[in-house]
Amino acid sequence: MNIEEAKKYHRMDAIVVGAGLAGLRAALELARDGHEVAVLTKVYPTRSHSGAAQGGIAASLANTTDDSEELHMFDTVKGSDWLGDQNIIEFFVSEAKKTVYEFEHMGVPFSRTEDGRINQRAFGGHQKPRACFSADITGHVLLHTLYEQCLKYNVHFYNEFQVFSLLVEKNISRGVVAWDIRNGGLHTFHAKAVLLATGGYGRAFKVTSNAHANTGDSLGLILENGLPLEDMEFVQFHPTGLFKHGILMSEACRGEGGYLTNGKGERFMEKYAKEKMELAPRDVVSRSEQTEINEGRGGNGDDYVYLDMRHLGEEKIIKRLPQVRDLAINYLKVDMINEPVPIQPTAHYSMGGIPANINTEVLKNPKGDIVVGLYTAGETSCLSLHGANRLGTNSLQEAATFGRVAGTSMSEFVKNNGLENLPANETDNARGKVSALMEGKGKERHSVLKEELQENMTKYAGVYRNEKDMKKLMKVIKELQARYKKVTIDDKGDAYNMDLFEAFEVGNLLSFSEVMIEGAIARKESRGAHFRTDHPKRDDKKWMKHTFAWKTAKGVKLDHTRKAIIYMDRFPPLERKY
Ligand code: FUM
Repeated sequence: MNIEEAKKYHRMDAIVVGAGLAGLRAALELARDGHEVAVLTKVYPTRSHSGAAQGGIAASLANTTDDSEELHMFDTVKGSDWLGDQNIIEFFVSEAKKTVYEFEHMGVPFSRTEDGRINQRAFGGHQKPRACFSADITGHVLLHTLYEQCLKYNVHFYNEFQVFSLLVEKNISRGVVAWDIRNGGLHTFHAKAVLLATGGYGRAFKVTSNAHANTGDSLGLILENGLPLEDMEFVQFHPTGLFKHGILMSEACRGEGGYLTNGKGERFMEKYAKEKMELAPRDVVSRSEQTEINEGRGGNGDDYVYLDMRHLGEEKIIKRLPQVRDLAINYLKVDMINEPVPIQPTAHYSMGGIPANINTEVLKNPKGDIVVGLYTAGETSCLSLHGANRLGTNSLQEAATFGRVAGTSMSEFVKNNGLENLPANETDNARGKVSALMEGKGKERHSVLKEELQENMTKYAGVYRNEKDMKKLMKVIKELQARYKKVTIDDKGDAYNMDLFEAFEVGNLLSFSEVMIEGAIARKESRGAHFRTDHPKRDDKKWMKHTFAWKTAKGVKLDHTRKAIIYMDRFPPLERKY
């Protein structure tokens, strides 16, 4: 190895891909255990999308009312429309308080009750005020605190590195190959354990609360390695995205008492969830909004309804919701102190992802066999915690709790296993992708394909779905995939070649979107966020099961043999009413 090659070879105990809450929490655990751990992230850690989570992190602390793990578990099971695996949910709620207190001890500035305890607010689908919060910047403060802790424990950060290939051979993970965005060039990261924690992938949709970086890159890498994804058909639409922009107006707005009104000024949730009203779960509220819009009762007959906060008063809005107020002013010139804010459902969260067991080990099949040394946590994973619909604030909790679990599992693995050899010519796959994009002769532009994908995903696979529309969408996706083979980029340089790296992202969007839609066509029932107008009922006899999906030369292969884990003596399936 010459000096130049040596600069591009990094030997570590463990690699974490992604610097959101899950990735940083895992890295911290590994570093505290004395391991050499590298975090690779395509954006700066403090710009990871966990920082955009606003309203809170769930735990049954019972600081403002009575509460219990049992109630948190029941709410999560019901929220998931009985598809969440109850062993995972049970473990999750039992770890949640510890996770919040850990953050408190790290110095997170939580908002407080009068008597100094962590304050908790109401959120949709939770029977009790359970969201521990810091005004409306909860994700931001958690992320910054964790980043500081990682620096303190000497985690190695490789910022602006985009992973282009996974090195998995003979079912053993050996590292990754990543593109150095700042300087150009491929680097090999060789390690005993790899964690994929790249967050959500809402950028497949036109109207989304997700950051531009949320393109599901690790899902593309998993699929190209012949590994499956799980439950991809379940996409959550958050009810309060800023009209046209999709930017999150936190559910905390409704938790603090905000109303939803239609173009006629009516509080329409009365018709759809009489008891819970605006605090029904997200799938229920988003469908109600969409029905109002579809039936012509949107604001000015347009594709939005209103979030009305005026009755809360200036003081409360400024104290509790300063960020969302600013966002509405900056993007729509609407000040929620004086005017209702136009909002619409926005693609927000993906319940599916890379299948993993309770130790966060990546599964290679529905039987539960694992890929040795490969882990996943946070939104990009599918532990079957949220089933068909996630409750708000369970996501920050999931990322932190299972980030910690990933760190512990990886630390144990790293202690007990040697470093495997790299595959021969380990950079070939990544190099092939770079040269196909740099040297191709085709005339297609990745940005055009991305826009067409987003437009069609929002149009045909949104809050309401049906077979006819989704088949149209599949045709579009196939055509876009064919056109993607003819994508060439204009920028041939090394430094900050965004053309290259965005083209790579579009390939990933196109790859997992196909899996998402095939799964959605196959699931002929309505459950949680997946609502089929042509199959409007939940079908427990046929569909209390998870979807595993692989990409093959012949298209997407689906498997529905993995059953949801249900404690029939504790939380048997019930009709889901709010
Ligand atoms: O509405 C929100 O503040 C988002 C929270 C979440 O998705 O958990």
